[in-house]
Amino acid sequence: SEDSHVIDYDFSFEGPFGTYDQFQLQRGLQVYTEVCSACHGLQYVAFRNLADDGGPGLPEDQVRAYAAQYEVWDEALLDGEGDFRDAVPTDKFPESSLSNAPDLSLMAKARAGFHGPYGLGINQLVRGMGGAEYLTSLLTGYTGEMKTEAGATLYENTAFPGGWIAMPQPLYGDDVGYEDGTEATLEQVSKDVAAFMMWTAEPKLAARKQAGFAGVVMLGVLAVLLYLTNKRIWAPYK
Ligand code: HEM
Repeated sequence: SEDSHVIDYDFSFEGPFGTYDQFQLQRGLQVYTEVCSACHGLQYVAFRNLADDGGPGLPEDQVRAYAAQYEVWDEALLDGEGDFRDAVPTDKFPESSLSNAPDLSLMAKARAGFHGPYGLGINQLVRGMGGAEYLTSLLTGYTGEMKTEAGATLYENTAFPGGWIAMPQPLYGDDVGYEDGTEATLEQVSKDVAAFMMWTAEPKLAARKQAGFAGVVMLGVLAVLLYLTNKRIWAPYK
């Protein structure tokens, strides 16, 4: 959108060979858990995916311990009456607890950071879709100004289309304590949770890029062979 200011941050998963940084995804999970999950949900992500290759890569026992922090409603318990129980790895993250806070599972692909020029999409061809860049710019884009409109409090944000968002600034820097020694600046925590949301939206990114690369190599070899075959077929007539 025209009035949205998005910074072109660098991420490890950019480019044809980019992959997720496992430790960044673990830090992003921590930010999500300690800050964002107070309002937002991740209803399409299962806890067991936290152990997947190419993702945060948590060991199985840590996934079980992580899931057990949550409670889920199980219809089969108490002879069909239903009851709460601790979540297990096959369960999914809860839905948003705040009704106007959108689910974040697919958010990194539901938003684009770069547009135009003139609707041609050249910016996206060159710089990528920019979902993670938009999310980072949103989280670092608060000006501190707020206003009340029709009973709702809105916060000024330089990345949000329209400039005023209903989400209060969630991150300030030093929001979490990272165990890997990474300094938790505002830009760092924002990038980490944006990378985590990119992974929830596209968990098979590495596999897709590998398959694509193998396809391009194979077509390249095929093109050379067809060229040589063509030369040979026509050789007697030239
Ligand atoms: C909207 C991320 C924490 C309440 C959003 C959006 C994102 C997001 C990406 C969608 C923006 C858009 O439509 O383009 C995050 C992250 C958080 C976080 C990464 C943690 C770091 C919170 C918290 C609350 C909250 C703690 C509640 C106090 C909301 C609400 C909206 C929203 C109400 C809807 C805003 C609107 O449409 O105007 N959030 N959020 N968020 N979030 Fe958060």
